[in-house]
Amino acid sequence: MWDFSSMNTKREPAPWDFMKIVPRYLQASDFVLDIGTGGGEKFLKLSGYFEKGIGIDQSIEMVKVAKEHAERAKITNVTFGQMQAETLDYPSDTFDVILTRHAPVFPSEGVRVLKPNGYFLTQRVAAKHRQNLKDVFGYHPQPKYANDNGTLIEQFESLGCRIVASGEYNIRYWMRDIFSFIFWLLIS
Ligand SMILES: C[S@@+](CC[C@H](N)C(=O)[O-])C[C@H]1O[C@@H](n2cnc3c(N)ncnc32)[C@H](O)[C@@H]1O
Repeated sequence: MWDFSSMNTKREPAPWDFMKIVPRYLQASDFVLDIGTGGGEKFLKLSGYFEKGIGIDQSIEMVKVAKEHAERAKITNVTFGQMQAETLDYPSDTFDVILTRHAPVFPSEGVRVLKPNGYFLTQRVAAKHRQNLKDVFGYHPQPKYANDNGTLIEQFESLGCRIVASGEYNIRYWMRDIFSFIFWLLIS
C-alpha cells in the first residue's frame, strides 16, 4: 500500500491535471477500464462521466479498499477485481476507454482489449523522477518497465495507434526533513 501522507514535502504546481483532462474523452455510454486502480479514489471520482467501469489491481488488499470506497460513496456503476495488467482477463475490443494512472503500462495488452477508435489515457512518473538525488547517492535501481515517454509512444505507434496528445514536465520538489527523504529511499 502507498501512503505518502507522512512525508513533509513541497512541490511546484503541475502544468496540467490528468483528472480534468480525462472527462474530455469520456462519453455517457462508455465502458471504461482503470488499470492499477489502487484504492479506486481517482477512478470513482470519474464515475459520473461513463456508463460502466471496472477497476483492476494486482493487489487484493487494494481491491478490497476500492470496493469499500465504492460502497461508502454509493457508486454502483463501478466494480473492482484483482488482475495483472500484463494479462487482462477480457476479450479483445471490450473497452471504449482505458485509463491507467501511476501504474505500469503494457501497450500491446491494453490495445488488445481496447475497441477500435477507443482512447487509452495514461499519466506516469517518469524514470528520471528525482534523478538529481539518485545521482548524488549513486542509487540507480533498474526500472522494471520501459517508462520514458518516447519509448511508450513508439510502442503505441507500432501497434497502429495515433497519439492524440502527449507531454511531460519537470517540476521542483523538496523533501523538507530527513524522515521524508529516507521514506522516499525505501519506497523507490
Ligand atoms: C501508485 S498506485 C496508483 C493508484 C491509482 N491509479 C491512482 O492514480 O491513485 C499503483 C497501483 O498499481 C498497481 N499495480 C502495479 N503493478 C501492477 C500490475 N502489473 N498489474 C496490476 N496492477 C498493478 C499497484 O498495486 C498499485 O495499487
